[in-house]
Amino acid sequence: MAKFVPVDPFDIVIFGGTGDLSKRKLLPALFHRWLDGQIPPNSTIIGSARSELADAGYRRLAREACEAASGKDWDAKEWAKFEKIIYYAAIDATDPGADWGPLRKRLKTEAERPRVFYLATSPHLYVDICRAVGKAGLACEASRVVLEKPIGTDLESARAINDGVGEVFTERQVFRIDHYLGKETVQNLMVLRFANTLFEPLWSHNFIDHVQITVAENLGLEGRADYYDRSGALRDMVQNHLLQLLCLTAMEPPNNLGDDEIRTEKIKVLNALGEISPEQVKKQTVRGQYTAGLSGGKPAKGYLEELSSATGSKTETFVAVKAEVKNWRWAGVPFYLRTGKRMSSRHSDIVIQFKAAPHNIFGQGVDSVNRLVIRLQPDEAVRLFVQIKEPGPGGLRVKSLPLNLSYAESFTLRYPDAYERLLMDIVRGNLSLFMRREEVEAAWRWVDCLIESWETSGYEPEAYAAGTDGPLAAAMLLDRDGRSWWKEG
Ligand code: BG6
Repeated sequence: MAKFVPVDPFDIVIFGGTGDLSKRKLLPALFHRWLDGQIPPNSTIIGSARSELADAGYRRLAREACEAASGKDWDAKEWAKFEKIIYYAAIDATDPGADWGPLRKRLKTEAERPRVFYLATSPHLYVDICRAVGKAGLACEASRVVLEKPIGTDLESARAINDGVGEVFTERQVFRIDHYLGKETVQNLMVLRFANTLFEPLWSHNFIDHVQITVAENLGLEGRADYYDRSGALRDMVQNHLLQLLCLTAMEPPNNLGDDEIRTEKIKVLNALGEISPEQVKKQTVRGQYTAGLSGGKPAKGYLEELSSATGSKTETFVAVKAEVKNWRWAGVPFYLRTGKRMSSRHSDIVIQFKAAPHNIFGQGVDSVNRLVIRLQPDEAVRLFVQIKEPGPGGLRVKSLPLNLSYAESFTLRYPDAYERLLMDIVRGNLSLFMRREEVEAAWRWVDCLIESWETSGYEPEAYAAGTDGPLAAAMLLDRDGRSWWKEG
């Protein structure tokens, strides 16, 4: 049985409280933590947005969102208790004349009480909101501010946001969220690497041939065309989620689990990423954009049709990159990263492919290669593929089969959504799963260089049909190195 230690009573203000993130993730996550007894009843949740709503109206909106997220497990009795801690404050945080009174009156004044400002808004509002919170005198020592990704659209805009937020909050009060770090299987990466002695002696260029990190989605734009078309897959997924997965795979063992120890090791990996020049960009990266096809057996529109853009768009919905971590441990080991919308299925995997046995005594066609496959989602699992003899007479037939650790078979618990863990860490003030300023900026530095190389070399997205695994060039990226993307089955 999992044991949930209650956090101290806290106040949380959600700016963008009526938005999509609040409804789909934040409010349901808070309700789940309530159901597990982690949120003390004298805590306060305050939704804030521009619309004129009363507390009752906001509670109704929150109930609908939480009921939809709970499905058949909906607990109306607990909801009746939980909704009593929910309030609403109508504020236009960008209006210098805004009245902050309705919010101020809800916030408790004990000095130690955690006060969380969650910015579930567009990033271009982050600085204005922080300044307004500061001007209204609401930022105190026990405050924390939470910034959703994307933090900016490039290094320069990320710096401007970090500087602006830093005028009001100290670095240790800033929680930059990447929800991938709250996923159970992503946290397990550290346990797998650093609580087992089996892997560490093998975890380097001496024994690892290459690493593949795939985050494939079968969905398309899901009503986010406006944001996505300005962003694209590189900024939306690689700059944050995929680079975080790469960091956890490649980093040195931290001295302990302290916030700064983990983050310092991750920053070293980001700073070791080799920049991709315009001359290399077509050999080391692939950009794709989906056209009409079949998704889950049903006809799916192409990206441009989903956008209903008459002028066309050069935004990529697929990226593959051959990245290099230029340090002693990883010299010469490619990290192939791949992500895209409208791919054949939704799956996220990290594949560590070990080097082949130096001398093969079993004859041609034997793939004497071990693979550690970490399935992040769905069907969470860790599989170590080993070669075994297929039973039966008539020679030695060698087969690759997995030692299979499936989460569903090993644990009967419900897996908390990533936001549940992260929200409780914010209240506790635990920064280890949040990005430090330099980390976000180091990731942008690498991404900016890649974007510049795409622009200089005039590399436009290649077409792939919805429901496939990206453009042909993605397969060629590995094929040129005598490798292929790992496929289950
Ligand atoms: C978000 C991206 O950060 O992550 C989305 O903005 C993407 O485009 C989503 O769909 C994927 O998250 P998950 O948890 O569904 O893998």
